[in-house]
Amino acid sequence: MKHADIVNRMTAEEKAAFLSGKSEWESWNFERLGIPSIFMSDGPSGIRKQAGEGDHLGLNPSVPATCFPSSATLCNSWDAALTEEVGEGLGREAMAEGVNVLLGPGMNIKRNPLCGRNFEYFSEDPYLTGKLAAAEVRGIQSRGVAACCKHFAVNSQETRRMAMNAVIDERTLREIYLTAFEIAVKESHPRAMMSSYNEVNGVYANENRHLLTDILRKEWGFDGFVVTDWGASNDHVLGVKNGSNLEMPNPGLDSARELLAGVKSGRISQDEVDQRVDELLDVVLELTAEAKKVRQNHDDHDGSVQASCLDKDAIHRENHQLARRAAAESMVLLKNEDRILPLKSGTRVAIIGDFAFEPRYQGAGSSMVNATKVENIRDLAGGYDLQVVGTARGYRRDGSEDATLIGEAVSLAKQADVVLLFFGLNEQSESEGLDRTHLRIPQNQITLMREIQEANRNTVGIISAGSVIEMPWHSLFKGLLHAYLPGQAGASAMLDVLTGAVNPSGHLGETILNKYEDTPSYSYYPALERNSEYRESVFVGYRYFETADVPVLFPFGYGLSYTTFEYSALQVEESGIRFTLKNTGTRDGAEVVQMYVGMKDSALFRPVRELKGFAKIFLKVGEEKKVSIPFDDKTFRVRNRMTDRWEIEGGTYQISVGSSCRDLRLFASVEKQGDLEQLPYDREKCGCYYKADIRRVSDEAYEEILGYPVPSGSWNQKSLGINDALCQMYYAKSPIARKIYRVLDRKLKKSQAEGGVPDLNTMFQYNMPFRAIAKMTGGLVSMEMVKSIVEMVNGHFFRGMGGVIGGFFRNRKENKQYLRKLN
Ligand code: BGC
Repeated sequence: MKHADIVNRMTAEEKAAFLSGKSEWESWNFERLGIPSIFMSDGPSGIRKQAGEGDHLGLNPSVPATCFPSSATLCNSWDAALTEEVGEGLGREAMAEGVNVLLGPGMNIKRNPLCGRNFEYFSEDPYLTGKLAAAEVRGIQSRGVAACCKHFAVNSQETRRMAMNAVIDERTLREIYLTAFEIAVKESHPRAMMSSYNEVNGVYANENRHLLTDILRKEWGFDGFVVTDWGASNDHVLGVKNGSNLEMPNPGLDSARELLAGVKSGRISQDEVDQRVDELLDVVLELTAEAKKVRQNHDDHDGSVQASCLDKDAIHRENHQLARRAAAESMVLLKNEDRILPLKSGTRVAIIGDFAFEPRYQGAGSSMVNATKVENIRDLAGGYDLQVVGTARGYRRDGSEDATLIGEAVSLAKQADVVLLFFGLNEQSESEGLDRTHLRIPQNQITLMREIQEANRNTVGIISAGSVIEMPWHSLFKGLLHAYLPGQAGASAMLDVLTGAVNPSGHLGETILNKYEDTPSYSYYPALERNSEYRESVFVGYRYFETADVPVLFPFGYGLSYTTFEYSALQVEESGIRFTLKNTGTRDGAEVVQMYVGMKDSALFRPVRELKGFAKIFLKVGEEKKVSIPFDDKTFRVRNRMTDRWEIEGGTYQISVGSSCRDLRLFASVEKQGDLEQLPYDREKCGCYYKADIRRVSDEAYEEILGYPVPSGSWNQKSLGINDALCQMYYAKSPIARKIYRVLDRKLKKSQAEGGVPDLNTMFQYNMPFRAIAKMTGGLVSMEMVKSIVEMVNGHFFRGMGGVIGGFFRNRKENKQYLRKLN
């Protein structure tokens, strides 16, 4: 133990209390021992520090902070240095706000484009996610604030996220869903990791020894603390035993009592508790010492020399500019017919679209930032070398048709050389806690597009959406710029790109498919009952589209520029590749070069190519550079579930280099010696995987890759348990419980029908398991009371009610006794 001197002086009660939250955002402090509390705040795209009453869904206001581009946006920059700068910007702001732990980056893999939180995550590819997340962590932590990678792991759906079991084979788990976390841990030393709500192969992520201890700590060398997602703790004793350090948010002292009882009964040893205390203490002491040093420095300099360290106004000003640059570098030019972009100086433009007036710039939920200032196109366009002939809203944000708005927009479009049409997904469509049900944008926007196109062929569409949308209307536009969710400075960034002040260099971090039905996990997503079966295995995103040869609209890695690049002279060496890149166009600009690796004659099933390296290279007109991309420990490895090792299959590998996974310019091959001897599968039994025919995988094939029978995932409809979600009260024996279900359901449907910002509170309650009532009520409700509530739901009203009343008084008394021992 690193801090045995302190741990040995702590009482059993102090240790137990230390391992769960004191308030919505703080850990416990013990003055007598010199242990301060740490303050945690959400990210990942800005600081969401709640100064007043805390909640974890962004319902109560938070202090003003810079809203950076969402991770899905920043990912398109493919620029680790820029992402690190953004991390540093976040870290500065966190430090100035007295925040010790920033709850981000979000690193889950985009398994399916419907996932409501995709805007908060980077990519469908683990390598890209890992490299950028590592950069962000380095940036945040360079300012003395801990980053907290989340949500560990396999949390790729929002539907029933707290009561869902991801059933996934070990190879897919390792290669696709854990690799990004592995890269971040090994390359950036994050001081915190958040365990996810769901179970992974039947064990809650927060109690999962395989994930938290064997892989995270022992294999990867993580030495920070693991914090539960808010309300994600199930059995606190099991959590602590298996590697989780801090239960959040505020279960009162009930969880601490559970832990004390666990030690007494032998479910967990005092040594195990001490170990977790020591790990948490290590980070708490480091972070608080760092914060103290920064403040001391500031005070010593009278707040002047060091002013910029804590001067919020200065930080906000600088971060706004950083947010603008990051957004501009991340936008993806999807289409540019007749070189309609960049707009020529003095072009007469019509600005159309509600988003040009009030931008759609961030997603909803715990990541929602109270931006310091939000730019919009209407106010800024006049400051560029353009003639604005007018502005019109064009459509209603709530999706309803409005002929008057269309009429105004069309007459404006007729007066312009070029129409700039701003549109995309509305606020209701992208939120934590809610998966989308389709990939379409509102029909009223499509109606408008058609009318505009009739009026003026020279139309450029500027899209705001944090995740994939279907674009059957793309041919209506000569130019298409995808701005994703660009953050508070998105408007100037858009104008910078449209006018050519910035040459676009964003490339897609996910595939834009033709239609949702093409998605590999189409038949398995979202799981509506207990199990989410990852039957598609490693064939996620482009790994599937490329291997099964499915046409897509814009492939992974795709992005245009105002200039052109030539690739040549590929050489493969033992340590990596080298080639030459030249800017052959008429503008300075940056290219995202991508290295893919595949193996045609593999004895395993594999994606035809996988991203194993990339770089962003800036070149002046006519300039050329030698680019090298190194091989690393991930380039050739596969996970063998038979030997439980990373292994290399011997043979010939194909290397391809290009500007997207479909626009490949250079090819070579390399021989590798291998150490894979025992094949993990019987090919006969899982032949569908060898053909990437994974959309209706049979039980037999799935079991062959899982290595065990497919577990039953149906709900027990006879009686409910503490881990069942509130929405399962639909099946409850108690008529009162069924009534509560109906009220919740009606409230949810009403809010969905009304549009606007989603009702996250109701959504959270709807999907939350009963146990979370005890975990999130600040000590008011104990687990004993929750069990009695569930008895009532199961039709034993009087027995349950007795338990609730008795439990209430017992809980109150025991809380008071415990508090006395802490003071
Ligand atoms: C989210 C986390 C977030 C936490 C605290 C949870 O609902 O899943 O990402 O950090 O709330 O707000």
